[in-house]
Amino acid sequence: MDMPLPLKFTETVPLQDRFQRSLRELRVSVIDRCNFRCTYCMPSDSLNGRGVFLPLEKLLTDHEIEDLVRAFVGLGVRKLRLTGGEPLLRPGLPALVEQLAGITELEDIALTTNGVMLPRLARDLAAAGLDRITVSLDTLDPEVLSRMSGGKANLDQILDGISAAESAGFHQLKINTVVQKGINDHTVMDLLEHFRGTAHRVRLIEFMDVGNSNHWSESDVVPNAEWVERINEKWPLHRVQSGNPAETARRFEYVDGQGEIGFISSITQPFCGGCTRARITADGIFYTCLFSNKGTNLMPLIRHSEDRDDLQQKVSDIWARRNDRYSEERGQPGHDQEKVEMYRLGG
Ligand code: GTP
Ligand code: 5AD
Ligand code: SF4
Ligand code: SF4
Repeated sequence: MDMPLPLKFTETVPLQDRFQRSLRELRVSVIDRCNFRCTYCMPSDSLNGRGVFLPLEKLLTDHEIEDLVRAFVGLGVRKLRLTGGEPLLRPGLPALVEQLAGITELEDIALTTNGVMLPRLARDLAAAGLDRITVSLDTLDPEVLSRMSGGKANLDQILDGISAAESAGFHQLKINTVVQKGINDHTVMDLLEHFRGTAHRVRLIEFMDVGNSNHWSESDVVPNAEWVERINEKWPLHRVQSGNPAETARRFEYVDGQGEIGFISSITQPFCGGCTRARITADGIFYTCLFSNKGTNLMPLIRHSEDRDDLQQKVSDIWARRNDRYSEERGQPGHDQEKVEMYRLGG
């Protein structure tokens, strides 16, 4: 049996994992449901006949999420991202954001959404204190979009969502674009052109082997280096040096001043070395890697215990033992494990 490590959160020793990575960012999935069925995340065929979604009473309550975030903040977390499934499907999300915005140590609260509910919610989210929004949008071709979202996405609704976010004051969005060879790669340049000249930042994401049901194959991945070369030929780019080693994206600016794009290259250029991200599912399971096959259920320490010190100590013990670097070990023997699904972990 693992003995608790002698690290106490009350001490000033900074909490670090086995590779000297601190705990700086927390990503909380607030609901596992989604109104899309993206083929790379939640393909409909994988859901058939399985009651896979959590009943609402199993979700952490707003109060429980606040307690949890406070515990993580006590261990060094300064950035929070709310994810799903589709987080805007959680009833009363603006009220939760307002509660979390009251945690003064948090420097940044962001949200990842598919965008379709932003016309209804963007204003309330801004008023509640949300700092940033990322919208997932894989293509501007309506047919390709429909296919990639399992027939659920409507381009106009997503573009309306982006406009609503802008009107609510989110002037610099991130746009997440998953690229799959032979599926949407022929539409990428159009998408980039659409956002050139705006403050929004498209990030091209290499299709990843998250979860167990998206039929991932390395041959469906377009290495981001190919995009850098291709885009640079059309619109010259220069690298933006980031001061943040935890960043997922390699960033580039268009030399002609028309904005910035990013490349998230988990397959060809993994970034585990700077990974300071922890993840919590909507029912309170703590994962130390996007590709984990096992998490730790914190619910008993949240719902059935008043002792927040126990919760913090548990997280601290787990983080101190963390040695995840899945993307760097991908393909090695023993790494074809069952993984938690992306829509449970929120990306
Ligand atoms: P910022 O806070 O704006 O830096 O956001 P971010 O880039 O960390 O978050 P976002 O959710 O926008 O991440 C974009 C995508 O990158 C996710 O949807 C995942 O596909 C991928 N990603 C994020 N974090 C990780 C990670 O720790 N490991 C891997 N392999 N991929 C990640
Ligand atoms: N590969 C890469 N990115 C993915 N996402 C979901 N599934 C995958 C995958 N298989 C990203 C989407 C979305 C976020 C929630 O996760 O782009 O922005
Ligand atoms: Fe839903 Fe996002 Fe997954 Fe698509 S990628 S199914 S929008 S959670
Ligand atoms: Fe972090 Fe795991 Fe992603 Fe590597 S694969 S960057 S350890 S979440």
